Amino acid sequence: MTNQSINLDYLSECMKLDQINKSDIENILVSIFQSSYDGIYVADQNGVGIMVNTAYSRITGVKSEELLGKSMRTVVKEGIVSESVTVKVLEKRTPVTIIQSVRGKELLVTGNPVFDKVGNIVFVVTNVRDISDLNHIKTELLHSRKMTDQYISEIEELRKRELIHMHLDGIVAQSQEIMKVFHLARKVAKVDSGVLILGESGVGKEVIVNYIHQESDRAAKPLVKVNCGAIPHHLLESELFGYERGAFTGANSHGKPGLFELANGGTIFLDEIGDMPVDLQVKLLRVLQEFEIMRVGGTKSIKMDVRVISATHMDLEAMVDKNDFRRDLYYRLNIVPIKVPPLRERKVDIIPLAFYFLNRTNEKNRLNKRFHSEILQFFEGYSWPGNIRELENLIERLAVMTDQEEISLKDLPPYMLSGKGFAKPEPGKLKETVANVERKMIKEQMEISKTTRRAAEALGISQSALVKKMKKLGLTV
Ligand SMILES: Nc1ncnc2c1ncn2[C@@H]1O[C@H](COP(=O)(O)OP(=O)(O)O)[C@@H](O)[C@H]1O
Ligand SMILES: [Mg+2]
Repeated sequence: MTNQSINLDYLSECMKLDQINKSDIENILVSIFQSSYDGIYVADQNGVGIMVNTAYSRITGVKSEELLGKSMRTVVKEGIVSESVTVKVLEKRTPVTIIQSVRGKELLVTGNPVFDKVGNIVFVVTNVRDISDLNHIKTELLHSRKMTDQYISEIEELRKRELIHMHLDGIVAQSQEIMKVFHLARKVAKVDSGVLILGESGVGKEVIVNYIHQESDRAAKPLVKVNCGAIPHHLLESELFGYERGAFTGANSHGKPGLFELANGGTIFLDEIGDMPVDLQVKLLRVLQEFEIMRVGGTKSIKMDVRVISATHMDLEAMVDKNDFRRDLYYRLNIVPIKVPPLRERKVDIIPLAFYFLNRTNEKNRLNKRFHSEILQFFEGYSWPGNIRELENLIERLAVMTDQEEISLKDLPPYMLSGKGFAKPEPGKLKETVANVERKMIKEQMEISKTTRRAAEALGISQSALVKKMKKLGLTV
């Protein structure tokens, strides 16, 4: 408070007129001092307490007798207060603010020096404010912020859950196209309808079958996989349905349960269903319609509770039209078709998959391989006829086979860098074949790298050698 904020002229005028006297002014000042909600403590230039208001005692719990006439240094020594702002102000000769905790209360303590005309400290006025409430509010605010952050991340988590879930299970699903497939798979998992998964080889049909089974109520029961194309036709029936003892020569004398029986309560996956012979198609249809099987050579039927998922890379509809596949069975199997697009139609997945496979191989083999950016660019543009399987095998091979840490274009097998038929050498024409290979490799590389410098680097030859070669092969540099 500066002198300008008190109307001294008015006060002295009043005094002159005898309207108020010195003791009235003292009374005013004392009542202001006492009525302050904040605690006030005043010490002299030696830090000896000369004034303490009731708020100070209320807030700090220290009685005025413990402070008045005593040096703050002694008060600290006696352990009445833990630290003294007054002492700090006397040492520093500047205002000092500290936050002190007294009996569970947070106190904001500010000490201000009052100087005389020559710059000596005459008083130190200390103001004490209980900020526990403020702190309480602050704590609540921080808590609610923390909760908000937590809720936000939980929502994020929920949103990404499917993706994360898929990642956890070793599934990469980045593109909208494949996300749709997995959404559909999740939906059909909950019902027992026949699911037919269509898609080229290596697109991940089996991955989807695993996913459906895991997401279904049958998850704890077996998932039995049968590749109808891999089992000789004459064995397929007994494999699927089992046989009774003595059913045929060479058969186990006790008989054997079929894969359907093994899958009871769970799921059976009939892969390459297009390879199922027509006579067996009839038997399969019966199982699907009547929920029972009969072992080969058996006489009584066995009740079955099996969910059937089938898959094929063939055009089953065309086969139905040509009578190579039974229409009634086709409809049975195909209640819910799931089409898995080839990798080249969901390019967004290529790079995440590439990294996923590289990381996996790195971890498995304690390697530290990485991709050159050009090879990633190439991966995105490549047609991947073998789909994810081709990408997976390629990356595992590259990671293990290459000598350097960085996997680059020159590490790719030549057939990938050319169009069809590129790697087929014509007998007796070594020179031409080599020239063709070189021409194609260089052309492809130039399309990717754009400059001869980068193309040469990727091909593992010098720039001048590349330019020379290009001229010789009739390519424009
Ligand atoms: N979304 C995916 N994320 C990670 N790996 C995948 C994914 N889809 C397929 N794969 C892998 O690619 C390979 C081929 O998948 P698979 O399901 O056997 O294909 P398909 O049955 O269509 O021939 C498998 O090794 C599989 O683990
Ligand atoms: Mg498969």
